[in-house]
Amino acid sequence: MKPLLEIADLQAWYGKSHVLHGVSLTLMPGETVALLGRNGVGKTTTLRSVMGLLSNLKGTLLFDGRSLMGMPTHAIASLGISLVPEHRGIFATLTVEENLKLAWRPSSRWDLASAWNMFPALEERRKTYAGKLSGGEQQMLAIARALMPGPRLLLLDEPTEGLAPVIVERLVATMRELKAAGLPILLVEQSLDVCRAIAERHVIIDEGRIVWSGDTQALEAADRIVREHLTLENA
Ligand SMILES: Nc1ncnc2c1ncn2[C@@H]1O[C@H](COP(=O)(O)OP(=O)(O)OP(=O)(O)O)[C@@H](O)[C@H]1O
Ligand SMILES: [Mg+2]
Repeated sequence: MKPLLEIADLQAWYGKSHVLHGVSLTLMPGETVALLGRNGVGKTTTLRSVMGLLSNLKGTLLFDGRSLMGMPTHAIASLGISLVPEHRGIFATLTVEENLKLAWRPSSRWDLASAWNMFPALEERRKTYAGKLSGGEQQMLAIARALMPGPRLLLLDEPTEGLAPVIVERLVATMRELKAAGLPILLVEQSLDVCRAIAERHVIIDEGRIVWSGDTQALEAADRIVREHLTLENA
């Protein structure tokens, strides 16, 4: 089987600042991979690179065998990659329903009905301005919005950050549902518990380089690596 996403020796710069020094990871069809690491080590930059949001890149980025290098973001989105950005990327001055309609595409297998089905709490608030939603509801809306175009790969950047445990549990259940429906996910996450609950493979990044990767069982055994490369409060 060929990988759905293949990142090899990816290097990235913001101006003169070299932030990715050779990131390699693959994601197979149907797989959920977690990308873990401390603050500022290049997790968001990796996702943004896949989405065509960095202008200065070197290395290999293949989606379904096709190079994404130099491709504009809208073309990458049309191939079927959706990003839920760190700060959610929803329109505060539009209603829940308007946010979703705006993201929909005619070719999509998702529609409002499927969004309400997955997120009943959002249906109840369909006429509410997104800016008035709670943090958890905003994150649900951000995910629902990313699903509307009918992606073949979902990139999630710290979806549980700053949310109460009960809301995190809801989001974990949602991500598991998406996974069960066969949607591949590349998940950036700082909580080991969330990674264990959702991903079958885990990749640890430190200072712009991949320092470890393995399955959930190997992660449990990789105590020293986890302590060395992740912050203790997450471990
Ligand atoms: N727009 C930017 N311009 C210049 N440097 C940036 C920019 N965005 C991020 N950086 C720097 O690039 C490095 C990697 O940042 P990145 O946002 O990818 O980290 P991260 O792992 O997602 O961190 P966090 O956990 O805080 O979200 C950091 O040193 C950061 O300061
Ligand atoms: Mg980040």
